[in-house]
Amino acid sequence: MTIVVAIDGPAAAGKGTLARRVAQDLNLAYLDTGLLYRATGFSVLQEQGDPSDENLALAAAQNLQPTDLENDALRHDEAAQAASKVAVIQSVRDELLAFQRRFAAEPPAGKNGAVLDGRDIGTVVCPHADVKLFVTASTEVRAQRRLKELQDRGLDAIYAQVLKDMKDRDARDSQRAAAPLKAADDAVILDTSDLDIEEVIAQAKSIISERT
Ligand code: CDP
Ligand code: CDP
Repeated sequence: MTIVVAIDGPAAAGKGTLARRVAQDLNLAYLDTGLLYRATGFSVLQEQGDPSDENLALAAAQNLQPTDLENDALRHDEAAQAASKVAVIQSVRDELLAFQRRFAAEPPAGKNGAVLDGRDIGTVVCPHADVKLFVTASTEVRAQRRLKELQDRGLDAIYAQVLKDMKDRDARDSQRAAAPLKAADDAVILDTSDLDIEEVIAQAKSIISERT
């Protein structure tokens, strides 16, 4: 028996940090599904294309190679914004769905299951996940976290700009027709605004052990 843990939520809520720790501590395979959208969007940008162009975005999704996910440039906000533009296109989402579902259903031998993080894992990709967590925090706290990350990497960043970019992306993710960002009805909501990483991990692990 393997387990599937779905983690969704808005940008910089702490999904990735939590998912990586859960994967490590429970011996689960981890997929950061945002990377698929980032790599698709970035590939269109590299060809000087518009990520909102369906033909270009779909071709980029169809041609994704595993090594495309390892590009350091995917961490930049330019890739995040492009990701959220290709992510509104239903045909792009359909193209990326099979890979995500296979990852959840067939984790590598020796693993106890899989944890996936993104926006629509509990609602669309893995609607039958054993545990669904919706990780969130106030927009201001999330913008502060992203700002600190950028500054720690030595990048020039201004709070007001980071906040604006985050609001734009959250709006695009929440208001789109295709698999919008929202908590599944059976998800447990974890507001991390006033929690540090260790507190979030402890709460999540106790919810997972209750449900599996
Ligand atoms: O994956 P997602 O964009 O949701 O967030 P993340 O990359 O896991 O976390 C964004 C930043 O917030 C990281 O620098 C984390 O260390 C930090 N963080 C935090 O300060 N407190 C938390 N409870 C969770 C994350
Ligand atoms: O780390 P952060 O939360 O900032 O972003 P991400 O998880 O890397 O996702 C980048 C963008 O990809 C999001 O803003 C969404 O538009 C899109 N995405 C999605 O639509 N569905 C997913 N399952 C994952 C990401």
